[in-house]
Amino acid sequence: MNAYIGTPTSRVDGRAKVTGAAKYAGEFPAGGLVHGFVVEATIPCGRIATIDASETLKVKGVLDVLTHANRPPLADKDEAWKDEVAPEGSPFRPLYDDKIKFNGQPIALVIAEDWESAKFAATLVRVEYEQQGFATDLEGERSKAAEKDRPHKPRGDAAAALARADVRHEADYVIPTEHHNPMELYATTAIWESDGKLTIYDKTQGVQNVHKFLCTVFDKKPDDIRVVSPYVGGAFGSGLRPQYQVVLATLGALALKRSVRVVLTRQQMYGLGYRPMTIERVGLGAKSDGTLDAVTHEAIAVTSRYEDFARNDTGWAEQLYSSPNSRFSHKLVHLDVSTPCDMRAPGAASGVCALECAMDELSVALKLDPIELRLKCYSDRDQSENLPYTSKQLHECYARGAEAFGWSRRSPAPRSMRDGKELVGWGMATGVWEALQMPVAVRIVLTSNGHAEVSCAASDIGTGTYTIVAQVAADALGLPIENISVRLADSTLPQAPVEGGSWMAASSAHAVLAAAEEVRKELLGLAGKMPGSPLAGAELADTALIDGSIARADDNSRAVTIADAMRHGGVERIEKEKLNQFAEDKKHARNTHSAVFAEVRVDEELGIIRVTRIVSAVAAGRILNTKTGRSQIMGGVVWGIGMALHEETVMDHRFGRIMNANIAEYHIPVNADVHDIDVIFVDEADAHINKLGVKGLGEIGIVGVPASIANAVYHATGKRIRRFPITLDKVLD
Ligand code: MOS
Repeated sequence: MNAYIGTPTSRVDGRAKVTGAAKYAGEFPAGGLVHGFVVEATIPCGRIATIDASETLKVKGVLDVLTHANRPPLADKDEAWKDEVAPEGSPFRPLYDDKIKFNGQPIALVIAEDWESAKFAATLVRVEYEQQGFATDLEGERSKAAEKDRPHKPRGDAAAALARADVRHEADYVIPTEHHNPMELYATTAIWESDGKLTIYDKTQGVQNVHKFLCTVFDKKPDDIRVVSPYVGGAFGSGLRPQYQVVLATLGALALKRSVRVVLTRQQMYGLGYRPMTIERVGLGAKSDGTLDAVTHEAIAVTSRYEDFARNDTGWAEQLYSSPNSRFSHKLVHLDVSTPCDMRAPGAASGVCALECAMDELSVALKLDPIELRLKCYSDRDQSENLPYTSKQLHECYARGAEAFGWSRRSPAPRSMRDGKELVGWGMATGVWEALQMPVAVRIVLTSNGHAEVSCAASDIGTGTYTIVAQVAADALGLPIENISVRLADSTLPQAPVEGGSWMAASSAHAVLAAAEEVRKELLGLAGKMPGSPLAGAELADTALIDGSIARADDNSRAVTIADAMRHGGVERIEKEKLNQFAEDKKHARNTHSAVFAEVRVDEELGIIRVTRIVSAVAAGRILNTKTGRSQIMGGVVWGIGMALHEETVMDHRFGRIMNANIAEYHIPVNADVHDIDVIFVDEADAHINKLGVKGLGEIGIVGVPASIANAVYHATGKRIRRFPITLDKVLD
């Protein structure tokens, strides 16, 4: 059954990607295609007094300039604009009215025969504003933070326990705003079909989410619009909600009755969502033996004026370590900015960073090894729900990671490890994420020549969904993987939610199993009726598909080939679609975990930090594909290096405008910043979570990495930097 599951199978879409055969949203051709270029607001709050496109319209090749004043109809009810992952509030609507809600807001779309003309002509649009007072600085507005309701249970009396603690640590950790910088720019090609219907090639993490959104926003019937997104060049959460370019391209196509493409520039992508800046206040109180007596975590996060974006920053401190007293809160500050959005391990990347830096500071105060401290408050039960885990091999992550890293050779005192001019620091941290799963439907079409097409509306955002779907289908159908073709990310295909939350591996794999079982049922019916059939009277549960045959599971030699069964039954193709729902399990908590170890080298005179080694030991149930899985973790680690040392969106609060909206000045790790990364998958058998024991890997890779590096920088330099990113000026300060 497991020829492919669990093996380092190469990406089935790898060849298409490296040869350029894979098409992305901005690459699909169409006859008579025209191009839209976005004009953005240059103030953060107010209204458009006048907008004058007369000079723009004189430019050769310009066809139209769409604004709030002349655009085709758009829905006016909030409900029509709420996509499946919208937070509470009133969603942003591009070109809806004259109101300006954030700097960089799209206010016009210039459409021309070619992109260059549209881009030039866009500079000629004259806008006059009525500006209003605004605020964009979270720290300046900290006093306005208001509690965001989230069910969390305080345990005991955290304030009293903190006050009486033998050793106490309390501090603010500041995570800046960070922006997604996927390689692929946000883009939509809206194709105007001859019958007036629209085929929308969009960069998105959820084609059915975008489809439903466009149908309500434009008051269209489901058949009028089809959304397709076969390949996504990275999205990391920024494509969970429909982004504004899909609305603009659709508006353009409806206005001109022509195919329209809108590609955002790198700079314009800074007007989309982002990881919200947060101030994370963590308090830890310990007894002198190193056990925790109090944990408090308060997060203060930015959101827009119009939506309440809030993620689980503090829940990890709530569940991870054993402590009788605890208190948590999540507060929001509404500012004149666009709504934040999910960014890889939203909530956890920030909240666990603060928690794990604080744990390191506590271990120093207790004169305890950081791993030792974590083992003293290790819990086999989720502390917030008081539930056992479906599986939790975190202690094994600590052990395996420490062993591979050589942690036992660490000399604990800061500045005690040196190599020439460089101070060497070793730090570690815990990572944690959820193991979520969602209803997904899959259709399998098996033909008598032994080929199967497996299809589903799920996206592959680069995580490897095509490949694991092919692996699981090949094993479940008993066929070579070359005989499986996978179709994904078309809104007309069977139901799938957005690809996010690390839930798609488990969700899609089990949908494939469910659909394959339906195929096997029909094959058994056909094979069982053959004269002298070795499968006569066999129960479905006692059969398996192996090597192109349906066979008795206990005796594979008693088998009928798929081809024979189908020929005998006079069947050319077997088509089955099945929606898989996971049984609800209220008796267990479901999480993935990791232990991350980092080595940094800090130039003592210049303050330059290099992350020379990372070991990430991950417990995430069964790993479906150790090759693509390792890539997921490596990508997360690289981003963790960025969070620790490089990434920060800088805003000029006098203008409410981002100053570094480009990848020259918004720093992300490049090859020179990335050295040795060792990924260890710890065996974690899980009999409770789902049939295959799969938990998902998309986000756990980043969690814990920034803290492990910050802790290593402290160990190297004796300097505790609590404001990220840790840049050399802070080291030298
Ligand atoms: Mo992920 S932030 O759920 O795409």
